[in-house]
Amino acid sequence: MTGALANRAALVTGASSGIGQATALALAAAGASVALVARRAERLRETVERIEAAGGKALALTGDVAEERVATDVIAATVERFGRLDVLVNSAGTMQAANVEDADTDQWRRMLEVNLLATLYTCHAALRPMRAQGSGNIINIGSLACRTTSPLYNSYATSKSALNAMTDGLRKEVGPHGIRVCMIAPGATRTGIAEGITDPAHREAIRAYVQQDGALEPEDVAATVVFITSLPARANISEVWIRATRDTLY
Ligand SMILES: NC(=O)c1ccc[n+]([C@@H]2O[C@H](COP(=O)([O-])OP(=O)(O)OC[C@H]3O[C@@H](n4cnc5c(N)ncnc54)[C@H](OP(=O)(O)O)[C@@H]3O)[C@@H](O)[C@H]2O)c1
Repeated sequence: MTGALANRAALVTGASSGIGQATALALAAAGASVALVARRAERLRETVERIEAAGGKALALTGDVAEERVATDVIAATVERFGRLDVLVNSAGTMQAANVEDADTDQWRRMLEVNLLATLYTCHAALRPMRAQGSGNIINIGSLACRTTSPLYNSYATSKSALNAMTDGLRKEVGPHGIRVCMIAPGATRTGIAEGITDPAHREAIRAYVQQDGALEPEDVAATVVFITSLPARANISEVWIRATRDTLY
């Protein structure tokens, strides 16, 4: 493949839908070989087929990245298949809505495992090949909820605030070694993220938020990933906040 990311290898978590899927497609269109990770094997397979039909290289890796062994294995499989790892995008995420008093504490823990710990696991595993190369890009998909919240979004915002802190510390740790670390914090983006919310009223509220008139499209976030990863390594963009023009929540 030709393109700004020719001869680069990428891994995208949460690549079976929404922002992660759009990012995998955009990275492949820019010339990168892409490993796609999520739990829904069929959706990954379909996306791999789309990439290959367009002349790209892709690999489907099915698994739950909240399990540290899975996160470690998918990084290793990517390096084994493509010979290197230039881009890691952590887009796997889940959302619940509940204030503290009503919280299902198992859901709270699960959200921290997926939104925070899974990213720690993939970053931890990716640093070995990236340090050996002396280069790399790590992009974590945060949220506008990183910096502000409301009772309903408390557990989600807590996971994303912690992700923000982890990303900032990692940037300072490995930036001097040629590894660019960036958080992209989108607002309302037209995806199916609301569908996993168990409470029907909260699900409907989040669905209305992400589907609002003028919401971002997943491709807008994907294009931002390609832009950042196409820049020279000296340009260490550390945070990108993307708001839908009419988003009044944040
Ligand atoms: N949509 C928005 O308005 C918005 C705004 C700000 C930030 N974000 C963030 O954007 C990211 C992507 O979300 P989205 O909006 O694109 O929603 P989405 O379409 O629901 O995508 C979530 C992705 O994460 C994957 N995933 C969830 N748990 C996983 C696990 N344990 N292991 C592996 N993969 C897992 C899902 O795939 P499987 O179910 O197949 O595993 C899916 O591919 C999330 O981090 C979300 O917090 C979204």
